[in-house]
Amino acid sequence: MKTSILVAISFVIAIGTAIAQPVSTNNQFLPGQKLLDNQGNFVNAHGGAVIFQDGKYYWFGEKRGTSASEGVNVYSSTDLCNWKFEALALAPVSTDTNSEIEEGCVMERPKIIYNQATKQYVLWFHLELKGQGYAAARVAVAVSNQITGPYQFVRSFRPNGNMSRDMTIFQDDDGLAYLIYSSRENYDLRITQLTDDYLSVTTKDKMLFSNHREAPAVFKHNNLYYLITSGCTGWQPNKASLHATKNIWGDWVESTLNPMRGLEWDKTFGGQSTYVLPVQGKKDQFIFIADKWNSRNLKDSRYIWLPIQLHTEIPTVQWMENWNMNWFQQPVSKH
Ligand code: GAL
Repeated sequence: MKTSILVAISFVIAIGTAIAQPVSTNNQFLPGQKLLDNQGNFVNAHGGAVIFQDGKYYWFGEKRGTSASEGVNVYSSTDLCNWKFEALALAPVSTDTNSEIEEGCVMERPKIIYNQATKQYVLWFHLELKGQGYAAARVAVAVSNQITGPYQFVRSFRPNGNMSRDMTIFQDDDGLAYLIYSSRENYDLRITQLTDDYLSVTTKDKMLFSNHREAPAVFKHNNLYYLITSGCTGWQPNKASLHATKNIWGDWVESTLNPMRGLEWDKTFGGQSTYVLPVQGKKDQFIFIADKWNSRNLKDSRYIWLPIQLHTEIPTVQWMENWNMNWFQQPVSKH
């Protein structure tokens, strides 16, 4: 009798422990491999961006079905390797056929920014209206007082009247923020400054170059701004490029060298740029983030996270099958 109670108790404890344990613990980055969240589901956060707030990283990205666009998911992590599902931060609207984010719309490339003055989190994304393919070419804004949402849709528009498809948001050290966006059927890449509340754009707007590029990802290191982009081949990977400038409103010069190195460098390792993450509190640590799209099943598109090397002539990204944050501490000769 006693034994069976003990067995029963230890069984209950074992089950409890199993439930309390994360499904898997990741201690390294495995670019292009399946990435599961704390509940054992695919991390469904494509075309995304990461922000650090109050001791945690938050990863925002497109929630995709097989092909459907299902809103914007948010995950959190303290180590960038293990991700906890937090919420569907912004959901398409199913109850209002007049809504610009009516179910069936396409929400892509969500980028998150925090406004210190208004204490609001502002979510920018590329919006295509329901039933119009990629013709609407708008940028959209949603806000929340809580980082994980729910976000309230504010509006969508064409910045200064220009088409806007792939885009990113970049916040400079002085608090000014910018929208960098593919315009004129993706032939032009443009920049515009956000208003102080980050809820709209100013009329300060300029073409960066006209090279038929998309998937912009911007970062700043040693007072130089860098911009990684892809070519325009839909879900198919292609060759990345790198531009740099000292003045965000000045000339952006394209590097003659390619920033990607190693296996499939000329196809960006099978991925497409989406964001560059500055590691919190580390001056020289940046992670390049790309999507390895699976157009037959978008939700199973994979992620490529790789460190950016800064000791090379231009910033470069070296393909690695696996790596961990210790990489940043290693002597350059080992990179
Ligand atoms: C890519 C773009 C993606 C998505 C896709 C649709 O060019 O970067 O974000 O819009 O086209 O085909």
